[in-house]
Amino acid sequence: MKKIEVEGHSGCYIDIKKNKDILVIDKYTKNEKYIPRLKAQFDKQLSAAKTNITKNIVVPKIINSDETWPGEYHGIMEYVYGKNFVSFFEYADKMIIDKFISTICEYVRNEIESSICVAEYETDELYKKWMSVKKNMMNIYKNDSPYYSSIMKIIERCDEIFKPVMKFENFYVGKCHGDLTFSNIIFRDNEFALIDFLDSFIESPIIDIVKLRQDTKYKWSTLMYNSKEYDKTRYDMICKYIDEQLDINFSKYSFYKDSYAIFQLMNFLRIVQYAKKDSVTIYLIDTINNILNEKF
Ligand SMILES: Nc1ncnc2c1ncn2[C@@H]1O[C@H](COP(=O)(O)OP(=O)(O)OP(=O)(O)O)[C@@H](O)[C@H]1O
Ligand SMILES: [Mg+2]
Repeated sequence: MKKIEVEGHSGCYIDIKKNKDILVIDKYTKNEKYIPRLKAQFDKQLSAAKTNITKNIVVPKIINSDETWPGEYHGIMEYVYGKNFVSFFEYADKMIIDKFISTICEYVRNEIESSICVAEYETDELYKKWMSVKKNMMNIYKNDSPYYSSIMKIIERCDEIFKPVMKFENFYVGKCHGDLTFSNIIFRDNEFALIDFLDSFIESPIIDIVKLRQDTKYKWSTLMYNSKEYDKTRYDMICKYIDEQLDINFSKYSFYKDSYAIFQLMNFLRIVQYAKKDSVTIYLIDTINNILNEKF
């Protein structure tokens, strides 16, 4: 195996290598704590690769995944050639953008159809998640932090919102990618490859809708993107259009209308504990306050 390129990532590394004649990606970690997460990620990708029925959606084939040495875990998968979201949206015309929208909506619809619809779904998952997120927030933001009072106000509001048992009608439990943001899609002309699957605190297609709109409505991935200059006005217009189409498309499902806001709120609350830069903390506080003011 010949190593071509190395890139460092959060808790794991990604290498592009040559295996016999083909290019492969080796995603690996030497961090014991990260191993179960990476393992779960590859199990999910393996199962998605087997069951994916959506036309124009590709899931890279896993060539090998194992604990090669104690304390190390490697997932070797097929290398998929394509563009990232910034380069793709820079040149995509309306027909290609519409194709992306219909393909991703079809992918989520297939997830919904292969999930189980629970007429009266009662869950303590949101509350348990809120308790752990709140504990971490309080440990990070002490009263000498410039964000202390904003965080405390958010905690106060959320304590009223998250009840020990939350009820949803006709809620879908089952399949999801878990981290379906633009940064985990490799864009090709006629196909879209999904990478970086993630175990979620709740397995439901609502998570994937939340993650898609994390980008189309709240532009999360651009906050993390600093590789090159691009036309932000054009990008914002495209995102606005995609976001409207996603909302129209999923509004036909009552579970989306009933549960989207609270899961989007939890999605951003969960990220606060990982924010390393001030700009990200400020963005998260603003976004959470917007959701609280608009939806609750
Ligand atoms: N199968 C693949 N084919 C081509 N490029 C890939 C593939 N898998 C990953 N990449 C490249 O590596 C980048 C990072 O991959 P990935 O999203 O899996 O990791 P990450 O977001 O850094 O990790 P994590 O979120 O698990 O900490 C992708 O944006 C893509 O450019
Ligand atoms: Mg990723």
